[in-house]
Amino acid sequence: MSFPKDFTWGAATSSYQIEGHSAGDGCGASVWDEFCATPGRVHGGHTGAVSCDHYHHYAADVQMMRTLGLGAYRFSVAWPRVLPTGRGKVNATGLAFYDRLVDALLEARIEPWLTLFHWDYPLALYREGGWLHPDSPRWFEDYTRVIVDKLSDRVRHWMTLNEPQCFIGLGHQTGIHAPGDKLPLDRTLLAAHHTLLAHGLAVQTIRNRAKLPPIIGWAPTGDVPTPATETAEDIEAARETFWHIAPDSVWNMAWWLDPVLRGQYPEQGLRAYGAAVPAFTDAEMRTMHQPVDFLGLNLYRGYTCRRGDGGAPETVPPVPGGAETHIHWAVHPAALRWGPVFAHERYGLPIVITENGLASHDWVSLDGAVHDPQRSDFLARYLMELRRAVSDGVPVNGYFAWSLLDNFEWSEGYRYRFGLVHVDYATQRRTPKDSAWWYGECAQTNGAALPAAVPDGARQPAGRA
Ligand code: FCB
Repeated sequence: MSFPKDFTWGAATSSYQIEGHSAGDGCGASVWDEFCATPGRVHGGHTGAVSCDHYHHYAADVQMMRTLGLGAYRFSVAWPRVLPTGRGKVNATGLAFYDRLVDALLEARIEPWLTLFHWDYPLALYREGGWLHPDSPRWFEDYTRVIVDKLSDRVRHWMTLNEPQCFIGLGHQTGIHAPGDKLPLDRTLLAAHHTLLAHGLAVQTIRNRAKLPPIIGWAPTGDVPTPATETAEDIEAARETFWHIAPDSVWNMAWWLDPVLRGQYPEQGLRAYGAAVPAFTDAEMRTMHQPVDFLGLNLYRGYTCRRGDGGAPETVPPVPGGAETHIHWAVHPAALRWGPVFAHERYGLPIVITENGLASHDWVSLDGAVHDPQRSDFLARYLMELRRAVSDGVPVNGYFAWSLLDNFEWSEGYRYRFGLVHVDYATQRRTPKDSAWWYGECAQTNGAALPAAVPDGARQPAGRA
C-alpha cells in the first residue's frame, strides 16, 4: 500500500513564530507581543520580534522550498498585521505581504494552505474582552472577509483555527501561553464556545465569498492513545480514551470536534463539565456545524492503552529510557495511524496531517551541514504508520511537516529546533538539514522509498508521553 496519487506533501509554519517585524509596517500588537514583554513568561526572555525575519526573507524561503521539492506550504496570517486593532481599518502594507507571499508560492508551483488564526490574537481586541466577548465570533468573521476578498482568487486551501485546545487551554485556562489567563472552567468554556462560533462564521464567509472553489478545514490537536495489541478490547480502550473528556480540562478532542462536525456537544462532555457548560442555542450549534472538506490533525504525541483487568481503559507505563525528542515528547509513531483511524470512523471526513514533527539537538557541523538523522528517522516512522491508516481505508490527503524553519516555540522561546531548515538567528542564515533533503526526496517520490515495515531489530520503545 502506498500514499494516494495526488497526496499533498508540505511543510508548515505560523506567522508569529517566523515572521518577525511584528511592530513594523503598521503591524498591530498581538497578545504574544505583550506576553513576551512580560518578565518570566517566555524562556530566556525571548520574543518573536525578529525570529526568522521571514517577513523580509520570504522570497528566499519560498525558493528554498522549491529547491527542496515541496508541493505545499501551510502558513498563517497575522491578524494584527492586517487589522492592527483587530477590526476596522485595514493595514494595506501588511495585507500586501501575504499577497506577495501567495504570488511567490504559486510562481514556485507550491500550493498555499492558509490558516486564518494561529494564536497571534490582536491585543486591542483582547483588551475589549477577547474570546470572552460575545461579539468575538463576528470580529473573526470580519477579519476572515478581508483575507478572503484579497486572496481567494489564488488561495484554494483554507484552515480556520489552529489548535483551539492550546490557545484556549494553555492561553486562557492554565496561563502557560498568551494571554496568560487562568480562568475558571465556566469562563474557559465560554471562550471556547465563541471560538467554535468563529470557526462556523468563517467557514460560511469563505464558502460564500471565495473566488476559487475553496477546500476548507481546520487544525485541532490532541495526544493519541494507541492500542497495546490489535485485539478488539485494546482498540476499544484506546478509542474510548481518545474521545474521553476529563472534568477539569479542555485538553481533549471531542468537545471541540463534535460541535463542528456533528453539530452538538458530546454527551459525556456535558456530563463531565456539568454546570460549567455555557448556555447555548440550537441556532448557535447550527452555526458551528458548517460543512468542511477535510479534518486537519496536528499530531505529535501518543501513549499506549489497553483494557485493564477491571474493564476500564488503562495507560501502559512508558519504557524507562524509551525514545523522546528534545522537548521530551514521546516518539510514538502509531499516533499517526490510530489518530486518523479514530477521527475518520467518527466523522467520515478526509484527513490531512496539518502538523507533525520533532525538536532535536541540531547544530551546524564543521562540514557546514546539519546532520539530524533522528529527524529523518522520526518522519519515516510516522509516515509509515500514516501509510497504515491509508491501508486501513482512511482517506488521508496530505501531510505537513512541522516545521519548515527552526522558529520561536512559544513559551519555550528558541531553545527547541523543530525545523527541516536550520536558522542561525544572529545572521538569518538558513541551512537545510539532512532531513530537509530526505523529506524533499520523499515528497518527490510520494513516499516510495519508505521501508515496507520496521525491521525487528529496529523496534523502538517510546518514552514518556
Ligand atoms: C503545535 C503548534 C505549533 C508548534 C508545534 C510544535 O502545538 O501548533 O505552533 O508550536 O506545536
